[in-house]
Amino acid sequence: MSNHVEITTEAPSRTLAESGPASSLPRLGMAAPAFEAVTTHGKLRLEDFRGNWLVLFSHPADFTPVCTTEFLAFAAIAPELRERGVELLGLSIDSPTSHIAWVRNIKEKFGIDIPFPIIADSNKEVASLYGMIMPGESKTETSRCVFVIDPVGTVRAMIYYPLTTGRNTDEIVRLIDALQTTDKHGVATPANWKPGDKVIVPPPSTMEEVEARLKAGFECTDWYFCKKSV
Ligand code: BEZ
Repeated sequence: MSNHVEITTEAPSRTLAESGPASSLPRLGMAAPAFEAVTTHGKLRLEDFRGNWLVLFSHPADFTPVCTTEFLAFAAIAPELRERGVELLGLSIDSPTSHIAWVRNIKEKFGIDIPFPIIADSNKEVASLYGMIMPGESKTETSRCVFVIDPVGTVRAMIYYPLTTGRNTDEIVRLIDALQTTDKHGVATPANWKPGDKVIVPPPSTMEEVEARLKAGFECTDWYFCKKSV
């Protein structure tokens, strides 16, 4: 990787068509692209995670400082995620040897075990399937992407962060809590929701539902804006 980051406030000169070979982009609500990959825990396929939630995330490169802070943060939330039935799976365009050396270095320098597998995507196969390479930023590194995939293999959420900005892992736990609350109770969650807060009752779509809604005992500010506790 290059050892500096170009930061510019000028309009980008590259268009999508000029940015190199097309890669696909997953879509929310669609099946996550299937893969089989070499990881630090052996060969793994997307199918191996069926029945669990999966947080698949990419980082730009091993042995880089922001990525190291992120790995420490992902390791810290791994137990909380496990309690929620969520597995972590990292990825970068590095070799298995590089991943192993970096994980050992993190243990040596920071005293932290990295408990999750990391895909060694040297041929960019998984990165291309998931649109993790943003050629405007780097053609050789994956950006900081997060894909939340549910137990039946549907893409439920995607987060894309640039090379220079480390992710907020509290937000990833909050996102999982929100998605699992939505699935369990058939509700939506408002801005900045956290577990214990009231949730949004989906708005009615017929006049009859409006009448029923207003009599249902929810906390309604208006017919389309009702909250309840779960
Ligand atoms: C980092 O992890 O420190 C980093 C990686 C790529 C670009 C900029 C920073």
